[in-house]
Amino acid sequence: DWVMQGHIAEAVESIRQQVGSEEVILGLSGGVDSSVAAALIHRAIGDQLTCVFVDHGLLRLNEGDMVMDMFAGKLHAKVVRVDASQLFLDALKGVSDPEQKRKIIGKLFVDVFKAEAEKLKASNATRKGAAFLAQGTIYPDVIESGGAKSKKAVVIKSHHNVGGLPEQLGLKLLEPLRDLFKDEVRELGVALGLPHDMVYRHPFPGPGLGVRILGEVKKEYADLLRQADAIFMQELRSTIEPNSGKSWYDLTSQAFTVFLPVKSVGVMGDGRTYDYVVALRAVQTSDFMTADWAELPYALLKKVSSRIINEVRGINRVTYDVSSKPPATIEWE
Ligand code: XMP
Repeated sequence: DWVMQGHIAEAVESIRQQVGSEEVILGLSGGVDSSVAAALIHRAIGDQLTCVFVDHGLLRLNEGDMVMDMFAGKLHAKVVRVDASQLFLDALKGVSDPEQKRKIIGKLFVDVFKAEAEKLKASNATRKGAAFLAQGTIYPDVIESGGAKSKKAVVIKSHHNVGGLPEQLGLKLLEPLRDLFKDEVRELGVALGLPHDMVYRHPFPGPGLGVRILGEVKKEYADLLRQADAIFMQELRSTIEPNSGKSWYDLTSQAFTVFLPVKSVGVMGDGRTYDYVVALRAVQTSDFMTADWAELPYALLKKVSSRIINEVRGINRVTYDVSSKPPATIEWE
């Protein structure tokens, strides 16, 4: 619409003013905020922007390829993909405490990003070296960092919208979404041509599957979880609730699969199986501070369960989490 196109034109002009002929580096996570920031800045300055996408190996099925497809493939933005999955797996070896895992992932993420940014700063790819670090900080982040509410919130902020990093890298900060609320960011994303499904995705934690695999993170677990979760998401998106005409994906605020590193007994054909368990989690909430478990239709749960058990070799039991927040949290870790 006209209003939005006006906003975009204004934002584009202001980014051009601020950046001039200098170069910008942006950390792309695949999340809504960094994606919209990337699309907007790319609209404004094209190849003066280089996105750095650190793949920590704890993303969902095909997520990394989808990010590359969208930004490098469709938008023709410059994107450097850093495959750091082995690095993260090695660093997480033997670690089972949730906060410890968060710290390790957050720190390594910053280290890897920083190393890449240093390289870019020095390289010809950025002709004169980069001068700006762009971040997808949105208005609620700005407020929150004024008075962090919980320890987790601090960790969240220190993970993706990295405090102190611009100074350490000797870069100026570019934050074109600073004045926008989440719904405005989403509208902007759609207006910039990002796919609806990408812009209206449920939130996904920075540490990714690292906190959805209970205890120690292993590649085997991550691979099983990715397959199971993809099935759950597929069925949520394709099952329409007749009264609202909306999918169950859109009717829930956040839904995902959790990997439980315990084995239980099952039967398959003539044989006995002894395989892993996953839990399905789906919640409805307006602020993520409190949340109700979603009353998904039994038929949907049935289909997801039977598909996971039949299609994912290594999982023989599916449970549904019927805990509300509080006292349970939305994530299991
Ligand atoms: P909980 O589990 O605390 O989650 O009820 C509330 C919201 O925060 C998200 N979450 C995180 N996001 N890094 C993030 O970026 C984290 O470490 C993290 N832990 C929880 C969670 O997905 C939910 O949306």
